[in-house]
Amino acid sequence: MAKAHSKTMLAFGDVHIPHQNRRTVEIFCRVAERVRPELIVCLGDLLDCGQFSVHPPTHGMPETNYHEDLRQANVLLDRLQAACGRLVLVEGNHEYRLDRWAAATAEGRGAYSMLAPRMQLAKGRTRFSYVRYGSVDGRYPHYAINSRIIAVHGWSYARHATKNHLQISQGKSVIHGHTHRADASIIQNIWLPGRVIQARSCGCLCNPIPLYGTGRPVEWINAFILGYLGRRSDTLYTIPIMDNRCILPDGTEVAA
Ligand SMILES: [Fe+2]
Repeated sequence: MAKAHSKTMLAFGDVHIPHQNRRTVEIFCRVAERVRPELIVCLGDLLDCGQFSVHPPTHGMPETNYHEDLRQANVLLDRLQAACGRLVLVEGNHEYRLDRWAAATAEGRGAYSMLAPRMQLAKGRTRFSYVRYGSVDGRYPHYAINSRIIAVHGWSYARHATKNHLQISQGKSVIHGHTHRADASIIQNIWLPGRVIQARSCGCLCNPIPLYGTGRPVEWINAFILGYLGRRSDTLYTIPIMDNRCILPDGTEVAA
């Protein structure tokens, strides 16, 4: 599907296992298996890690088993990895709950390596990168997709989060998750007229209704990003998943 010399990328985020939308996840996997991209980037919050939250459990939600959540996350990563050349996981604030829990409790310090997503999701993988959420080297955590685009979990949840990302990405294009909304802000690159710089949020693959739901409508959407990365420029699409199907830029329908 991609022209010669261009690479294909898929990006998704905010699966929040065990609160994933299973049919949506299935559609995304089928897209990956059809497109067979060079690169798949998970933009974080693959796991909800609700068991390690400082917030009390959501009323009425059954307690879930973290080991089962890890298992499901690894099954998903295995499937995606089989469909792509390189898999990248940019850690989200929910995976980072494990680090905060470990820092705060003796129990957490003892069990950290047995539970931490950065260890338990990376085990045995090759052609795989894991980008930690907390800054370990004084730099902001990100994955450089190429010289023009960076991937981050999300620097803002504000109403105009995507625009805000563009303002702080210092001339780079940026893709992000975290907001569960799909949004794009595209401007001309003033340094390279005719080219664009863009920020794009990828929606989510979790159930598009918050657990903390108060009955108010939210703008969450099930979607993902498909990108064609050229030598000098990139084209990114945000693809919504509606009615258990999505339509790729070439018109192909992928359904669950
Ligand atoms: Fe997040």
